[in-house]
Amino acid sequence: MDKFRIIGRQSLAGTLPVSGSKNSSLPAIAACLLTAEPVTLHRVPQVRDIATMLKLLEFNGATVERFPNGSVRIEAKTITNPEAPYEIVKTMRASSLVLGPLAARTGTARVSVPGGCSIGARPINLHINGLEHLGATVHQEHGNIEASAPNGLHGNTVHFERITVTGTEDLMMAAALAKGTTVLENAAREPEVVDLAELLTKMGAQISGAGTSRIVIEGVKQLHGAEHTIIPDRIEAGTLLIAGIMTNSEVTVTDCIPEHFTALLNKLRQAGARIDASDTAVQTRPSSRLRSVDMTTEEHPGFATDLQAQFMALMTVSSGISFITENIFENRFMHVPELARMGANIRIEGRQAIVAGPSDLTGAQVMCSDLRASASLVLTALVARGESILDRVYHMDRGYERIEAKLAAAGAHIERI
Ligand code: EPU
Repeated sequence: MDKFRIIGRQSLAGTLPVSGSKNSSLPAIAACLLTAEPVTLHRVPQVRDIATMLKLLEFNGATVERFPNGSVRIEAKTITNPEAPYEIVKTMRASSLVLGPLAARTGTARVSVPGGCSIGARPINLHINGLEHLGATVHQEHGNIEASAPNGLHGNTVHFERITVTGTEDLMMAAALAKGTTVLENAAREPEVVDLAELLTKMGAQISGAGTSRIVIEGVKQLHGAEHTIIPDRIEAGTLLIAGIMTNSEVTVTDCIPEHFTALLNKLRQAGARIDASDTAVQTRPSSRLRSVDMTTEEHPGFATDLQAQFMALMTVSSGISFITENIFENRFMHVPELARMGANIRIEGRQAIVAGPSDLTGAQVMCSDLRASASLVLTALVARGESILDRVYHMDRGYERIEAKLAAAGAHIERI
C-alpha cells in the first residue's frame, strides 16, 4: 500500500497548478448518460473517483475513451444496464448521481443504497423524494433503490428540505428530460452545479437560475452531444494555497478561479496571510505571524466543508484559540487524533473543534482516513520538524491529481513509497 514520506520545514517556491474539478467532473460524466450522442469533456482530473465513475458508465453500456491530456469522450448510444451496483457504490458515494439520468433516459434505475462513510451517514433520501415528485415510483429492496417511470418523468416543484449538492445535480439532470417545467427550490449554489448547468445547456437543456437557490428547468424531448471544459478544482486550489501559507512561502497557485473560494480567501486574510488574488491565480507571500480565527462550514458561498480539515491544519500553526464548527457532516473530525500525533492541541466538543496554537509540530507516523483529512495531514507534515510517514494515501488519490509531484516541484520533500 502506498505511503507518503515527508520531511517538513522546507519552504516552497514557484507555481502550483490546479487540475480540473473532481466534484464537477463526476456529475458531468453522469450527464453523458442523458444522450445517445458522444460528449467530450476536457480537463477531467486523473484521480481514482473519476476512474470509478467511468467504470460505472461502462457498466451502464457507455463507451469511454480517455486521452493523456485529461480529455474524455463518452458515448452512451444505448443503456444496457441501468444500474449502479454495490461493488462500485461502496467505494464512491457519488455514484448515486446516475440515479436521475438513468431514470430519465430509460424509465428505470437501480442504485445500491450508499451506506455510511467515514465522514457521516451520507443518505440519499432527498434524491429519492425529488424523483418521486417528478413522478417516479421508488422503492427499496435488497439494499437497492429501484426507480421506475415507464411513461417518463414529469416536471414539478421540488423543495429540498436541506441543501444537497449532488441531490440538486441529480434532479437537474432528471428534469432536463422530464415533460414540462421543474422548479428546484432551496437548491445548492456551488460552482459545480453551475458548471453542470452549462454542460447540460450545451447538450440542449433549458435551464435558468443555476448558482441561485431556485433553478428552473424546462424539459426537452432529447439532448445531444457536446464538448465542455471542466472548471478548476476549488478545493485543490485552497489546499495548495494553504500549503504556501503554512510553509511561509512565496508561491502562486495558478489555473484556478479565486472567485470560487472567496470565503477561504477572507478567512486567510483575517488570519494575517498575505495573499494577492487575480482572476485566475493567487499568490502568497511570507507573513510574520498568523493569528487564529474562528470558522464555520456552510453551503456555498459559505466556507466549504471540504476545506475544513486543511484550515484546521493552518490553525495549528497560528497564535491563539480557533473555534471550528462543522455544520455539513456529522463526523468530519477524523483528522484530529492524527494531527494530535504530530503535536497539535485540539479538543472536540460535539460539532466544534477547539484548536490552540501555535504548536511545536513534529513528524510522526499517521493514518489517512478520508480524502480531505489526508490533505490536512500532508499540510501539517510539510511544516512539522523531521520525517512523517502517511499511511493509506489511497484516500488522497481519490481526489488529488499528482499532489506529491506538484508539491515536490515547488520544493517540498515529499515522496511516494
Ligand atoms: N443529505 C441528506 N439527504 C440527502 C443528501 C444529503 O440528509 O439525500 C445531507 C448529508 O448527509 C449532509 C448534507 O445533507 O449532511 C449535505 O450533503 P450533500 O448532499 O450536499 O453532499 P454530497 O452531494 O453527497 C458533495 C461533495 C462532497 C462535499 C459535499 C458538501 C461531490 C461528489 N461531493 O457531496 O465532497 O463535501 O457536497 O459540500 O460533489 C469531497 O470531495 O471530499 C466530498 C466529500
